[in-house]
Amino acid sequence: MGRVVQTEPFHLLNIFIIANILLSTVFHHPIVHAIRHQNKHSKNPVFSLPLHPHDHQKKINYTSLAISSLARDKARVEYINSRIRKALLHNYTDPSNFFTGEEEIETSLSSLGGGYLAKLGFGQPVSEFDLLADTGSEVTWLQCYPCKDCDPNSGLVFDPSQSSTYQPLSCSSQQCDALQGEKICSTDGNCNFIVRYGDRSASTGDFATETLSFGSSGSVGNVGIGCGRETGGLIAAFSGILGLGPSPVSFPSQIKATSFSYCLVEPGSGSSSTLDFNSAAPGDSVNVKLVRNPKKDLYYYVELTGITVGEDQVPVPPSVYQINGDGTGGVIVDSGTTLTFLDPDVYNSFQDAFQRNAQNLADSQVNFQGYDTCYEFASGTSASDIQGPAMSLQFSGGQTVALGPGNYFKRVADSTFCLAFEPTNQIVSIIGNVVQSGMRVTYDLGNNLIGFSPNMC
Ligand SMILES: *[C@@H]1O[C@H](CO)[C@@H](O)[C@H](O)[C@H]1NC(C)=O
Ligand SMILES: *[C@@H]1O[C@H](CO)[C@@H](O)[C@H](O)[C@H]1NC(C)=O
Repeated sequence: MGRVVQTEPFHLLNIFIIANILLSTVFHHPIVHAIRHQNKHSKNPVFSLPLHPHDHQKKINYTSLAISSLARDKARVEYINSRIRKALLHNYTDPSNFFTGEEEIETSLSSLGGGYLAKLGFGQPVSEFDLLADTGSEVTWLQCYPCKDCDPNSGLVFDPSQSSTYQPLSCSSQQCDALQGEKICSTDGNCNFIVRYGDRSASTGDFATETLSFGSSGSVGNVGIGCGRETGGLIAAFSGILGLGPSPVSFPSQIKATSFSYCLVEPGSGSSSTLDFNSAAPGDSVNVKLVRNPKKDLYYYVELTGITVGEDQVPVPPSVYQINGDGTGGVIVDSGTTLTFLDPDVYNSFQDAFQRNAQNLADSQVNFQGYDTCYEFASGTSASDIQGPAMSLQFSGGQTVALGPGNYFKRVADSTFCLAFEPTNQIVSIIGNVVQSGMRVTYDLGNNLIGFSPNMC
């Protein structure tokens, strides 16, 4: 993880990029430079980044991963909810107090787990870093040298002094303004970012523009990124975050992407996939309405109206799936939460329905710490071998997304699987990444649709 690859600058490309920077400085607008892949359906070039689970290696300890990802999820649910609450209550008027109190919850995570990393190139010459791809974050940032208590040789830290395209932003810039509650102006007028996560992780440092590149598929200049000079907590084990959220400062917004999509492979499977920008949803996608929260655009909402389990239909009432007038409530799709968190009443009906429809598995039922419904199968069983009930999600337009056992079971030991659902009495329900695994999930930002396409990793 975090291998730094230095590529030699290519002379003509360099001249082109310098011209781009001059243009982008004049027009204050990201300059997109595509080397290949032109999407027939849109004028925007298609960019593709390699995407792999944090736990990439073939031999992983599923038990410790399951325990740590559950703890991480609980912290994340708190983080997501506190961000919404604070955005609604404080309306970002006081950034210095924006992240205080309730999100600072204690967790005892033994290791990290459950996230997905995208490889992105920074600067000129290009250095590549693996960033956590996160639809629940806005700012894209990475650890930068010189930094407090960081190891410049870890392969995680970018050195902007070696990049000809790095440009710090002033506090009066439009890009700095877009940071809203995540901005701090220094006394010398420079723009600083600050991000804090639910597990005491945080990063702060310069907010700057840089050229970002997508392997061989192109580059974009003048993108506002955070250069973390001080990074603490578990997040310090990563280079940083790729913010895929809906706000103006997020990466898709800044590069004016019409869409982005990902496919999440199972951790430990040894395979990887891609995070694509500006590519059309696959033809077999089930496209459901993507709803924006009119009060605060922080997450991607969908109207989940029900879950079918075998013969049973578990309704999700409008009081749960609709966003309330005050901006609370609703159901979000999140790449960074592992399990799916449901309203307690919906969860209880879902549990009952599952038990009724999974009686063929009853003999295999076992307990596993922290998880509700677990089964141990013969050694070598994979999720797709499990004879679980048919399951699907229903959405407000009548669309149905079918789920296989790999979408509703999480592996917690070599041959033990648990239902990847939990109750939450917080203000939003969350569709996590186990449910999304193995599908290409396309966020069609131009048409406000989320597409789910099976078997597209
Ligand atoms: C896997 O992790 C669990 C929990 O941390 C631990 O009890 C177990 O011994 C580990 N197994 C192996 C094979 O290392
Ligand atoms: C937040 O503040 C801005 C300007 O200060 C205002 O335009 C906007 O309507 C406010 N939003 C809410 C939800 O109060």
